[in-house]
Amino acid sequence: MITKTIPNSLFGDCIDSLIAYRSVYRSHCEQFRDELPSSSGNREGFIRNTNIRHNTELVSFASTYALLKDHSPDLHGKKVLQIACNVGLFLEYLIVEEGVVGTGLDKDEHVVELFKEHAPFPLVVGDALSFPLEHEGAFDLVVAHHFLDQHYVSRRLLPQLVAEAHKALVPGGALVTGLSDLPQDILDKSPFAEVVRYGGLVDGYDNLVLCKS
Ligand SMILES: C[S@@+](CC[C@H](N)C(=O)[O-])C[C@H]1O[C@@H](n2cnc3c(N)ncnc32)[C@H](O)[C@@H]1O
Repeated sequence: MITKTIPNSLFGDCIDSLIAYRSVYRSHCEQFRDELPSSSGNREGFIRNTNIRHNTELVSFASTYALLKDHSPDLHGKKVLQIACNVGLFLEYLIVEEGVVGTGLDKDEHVVELFKEHAPFPLVVGDALSFPLEHEGAFDLVVAHHFLDQHYVSRRLLPQLVAEAHKALVPGGALVTGLSDLPQDILDKSPFAEVVRYGGLVDGYDNLVLCKS
């Protein structure tokens, strides 16, 4: 396990870039906000993202963004899979502003159906516990933002999620997981060759980059 601290300047730059992009987020979301049924359970989160009025939401994206930038300063052209991307706002930002080649995956059929027409990237319905075969060895980076956490996935299934992300990566690729909570024994048994734990970001969460050999 390697530990690193994200410099304040990098974290600050990431926050600034996301603030600058905020108006684009908003106009994109405004188009769809009334189409989501309130029963979907995602509407609340969606509207929170739409407003990004609580800077905590924005700062949370900035944490994962800072991990990505520290690990891979030039993201241009990188093949990125975001698992549990929900409406894909963060991925869209990475595509538009950083030039990544993105694919988004979420198991919520309703959200994917609604957004896949409008998303500037393939947005697919899928379970992060079992990717389609064509995803094997296909990505430079797998991003899991605020997802690898016992709150969203049962502890029993977390090792399988980590293993599945490992399979989706090219040799030398990395799983970048901000605002997560991965127990140490799961990290110790994971197939990844190296784990980098970052400080200097949102407290109370794991912010990790897991590197494949
Ligand atoms: C808290 S959100 C994650 C935040 C999101 N990454 C973002 O950028 O806003 C939880 C998301 O995980 C998705 N999800 C939950 N379990 C999943 C699974 N096994 N595979 C894929 N997506 C899953 C849900 O549909 C929901 O969209």
